[in-house]
Amino acid sequence: MNTSSGIPPAPERRFASDNNAAVHPLILESLERANRGHAVAYGDDPWTASAEEAFNELFGQQVSTLMVWNGTGANVLALATLLSPAGAVVCSDASHINVDETGAPERILGAKLIDVPTTQGKITPDQVLNLQHLIGVVHHVQPSVLSLTQSTEWGTMYTPNEIGALCDAAHSMGMKVHLDGARIANATAALGGTQQALKSFTVDAGVDVISFGGAKNGMMYGEAVIYLDPELARSAPYVRKQVTQLPSKVRYISAQFSALLTDDLWIKNARHANEMATLLYGQTVGLAGVTLDGAPEVNSIFPVLPAAHIEALRDWSFFYDWDSHHQQVRWMTAWDTELADIDQFVAGIGHFVG
Ligand SMILES: Cc1ncc(COP(=O)(O)O)c(C=O)c1O
Repeated sequence: MNTSSGIPPAPERRFASDNNAAVHPLILESLERANRGHAVAYGDDPWTASAEEAFNELFGQQVSTLMVWNGTGANVLALATLLSPAGAVVCSDASHINVDETGAPERILGAKLIDVPTTQGKITPDQVLNLQHLIGVVHHVQPSVLSLTQSTEWGTMYTPNEIGALCDAAHSMGMKVHLDGARIANATAALGGTQQALKSFTVDAGVDVISFGGAKNGMMYGEAVIYLDPELARSAPYVRKQVTQLPSKVRYISAQFSALLTDDLWIKNARHANEMATLLYGQTVGLAGVTLDGAPEVNSIFPVLPAAHIEALRDWSFFYDWDSHHQQVRWMTAWDTELADIDQFVAGIGHFVG
């Protein structure tokens, strides 16, 4: 406690990232239940069968689900199975695959990423259609996959219609559409939290393959790659192994997803994270030294702070830079953020920034 020095106590749960959060107790309980006896390795176990069935029910159709270790691996596997020879992945300049995967897609896929400039992480159909000139020219990579992120790295969202229009544009050029859904739960919650909300920007919009997030929404680790058209998954089991994303003890990822999809836990967790971001925004938007744009759509806000105060605030309660050239940082809430965390963080902002 630093109260004697006038420094307020730092929040127990910080605002660095949703993947800094603890594991939800119901996920741990499910892991404990799965942790009995032996099970066939590599996914041929009852926990995986039941998680696969839960995903079929969630999407209201037969899908192909492959559990993987992490989000980068989910993206690499999805893209690897969709890419055609000499194909390229079209993505936003702010996308995780472009910025935060240490070049894993380029290295493992051996393919070019065509990163199109976006202001808040959202690609437009025109940007896709403008790549038409590459098609059929032997000297150019061939646009093969469009990768969208929902919700985006900028905490923005595509409307279902926007994703529909992007899928139409991509499909009209013979491309497939991948959705990086590391935060698909936050987007679904923000769009109403129903099964229909999920379907509206995935199945109905024409998305082909989804990286479905778990670790940012209360799981310990693990993500799932969902092929909405199981035909597209034909090579996926082999490619998953090749790209080192086949865990032997798949049951421990599957058991977590089963718990996450039971009684809408995935929506409850994400809705809570989103609501906490709205509260954080409400309590910080007027503070001296904090410049914020519009209210959050999901679970992150991106304030600009005075350069002189960022480090002291960060040393007190860690968070990430977003655009260090413009003193912009990112504050992100999680399934376990509490009101007290927000109150204490706001007190700290008053102390270090105000
Ligand atoms: C949009 C997005 N996609 C994918 C990932 C992949 O995460 P990881 O490989 O750390 O599990 C992240 C993690 O921050 C992310 O924000």
